[in-house]
Amino acid sequence: MVDADKFYSELGKTFEPGIITQVVLAAMDSAKQGKKIIGLTGGMYDPPSLPGEEVSRVLAEASEEDWREMLQYGGTVGSLELREELSKFMAGHGIEADPNGEIIVTTGSQQALDLVARVFLDPGDVVIVGAPTYLSALGAFRQFNPEIRSVEIDEGGMNVEALEAELGRIEAEGKWAKLLYLVPSFQNPTSTMLTVERRKRIVELAEEHDFIILEDNPYGYICFEGEMPTPVMGLDEGGRTMYTSTFSKIVSPGMRIGWLVAPREFISKMVEAKSNVSICNDGITQYVAAQLFKRGEVERQIPKVTEVYRRKRDLMLEAMKTSFPVEAEWNDPEGGLFLWVKLPEHVNTTEILMEAVENGVAFIPGSNFFAEPVHNYIRLNYSFPSEADIVEGIQILGGLLKKAV
Ligand SMILES: Cc1ncc(COP(=O)(O)O)c(C=O)c1O
Repeated sequence: MVDADKFYSELGKTFEPGIITQVVLAAMDSAKQGKKIIGLTGGMYDPPSLPGEEVSRVLAEASEEDWREMLQYGGTVGSLELREELSKFMAGHGIEADPNGEIIVTTGSQQALDLVARVFLDPGDVVIVGAPTYLSALGAFRQFNPEIRSVEIDEGGMNVEALEAELGRIEAEGKWAKLLYLVPSFQNPTSTMLTVERRKRIVELAEEHDFIILEDNPYGYICFEGEMPTPVMGLDEGGRTMYTSTFSKIVSPGMRIGWLVAPREFISKMVEAKSNVSICNDGITQYVAAQLFKRGEVERQIPKVTEVYRRKRDLMLEAMKTSFPVEAEWNDPEGGLFLWVKLPEHVNTTEILMEAVENGVAFIPGSNFFAEPVHNYIRLNYSFPSEADIVEGIQILGGLLKKAV
């Protein structure tokens, strides 16, 4: 065996198994020993709600010509048929985007985050994120060694006064904030909704301080009360916002259909960046995705799965009320897939995780969502576990948390 370490690039050296990989490995080990682990971890889909029948019907009805197209190389930018459907879908949610030049199909939103990082970030560039924020966005950005600055997330999403203060500090240091990364609607991990006033103010701040925005919106469509507010991109007339969303939470994470909307110049750069990583997207899933839109299946699937998640959220909240320590605080999200729990400051939830896995339940420690060391939060997912597992998992976890506080 060669001395592997000596061959790695500086970037290569940074790739270590993250927390989700570690939890999955620990769960697999336990499963091998015949132990069941209840996963309240990743934002996976409710298994019985996956649209298997709809997908197989689309494929069964595909013509010979359709198959020839699906099985051939396609363009790096993604299939035109799908981009046209995405354009219509987004128009229904407050974003106008020309399918020819303003949309690129990606392998999930995660690829969109990587492309933006690749095309826009140099070492030392200042990127502003929420505290807390989506852990794999931090991972995508960190590949390019930016300076990550955090701004508080409160009940109304990113606190704009705190953002303004941070922008002032960055400028006082002689630096320039280049990119703001936002998950405005049912943010991961807090499930908070950025208020409309704050959305407007952020667009103004982008003009005043000359930064661009990456709006990441996988969860906004999973809305328990009312409608998703207009995305930040829909409020921005200055062409400073890029927007990414995905099939992963609304239709199927396994299909790996994501998309990125941006001004034309940015898209053409990202198409070239993407061609080095993958020449084109999967033709079969792009075809299926376009057909699901055309048949109205996407619009039917969203309220269907939202209803399931509303029930599961209620059930988890109910179980927490009876099982969690009185010192714990949590939100009551109006959409999305997660609950965000705060424990007293002395509690280190990363230390509790392995004991929890040994006791049959897994969660994601909150520290993974902060650029700074913060250890007293946990993120709980309610979309994936069955109703019985939600009740049992929360009972087990509640017992461990009571011991820890
Ligand atoms: C905020 C956020 N952005 C992006 C992603 C990536 O989603 P995908 O690559 O499955 O589309 C996720 C997944 O959980 C997420 O929570």
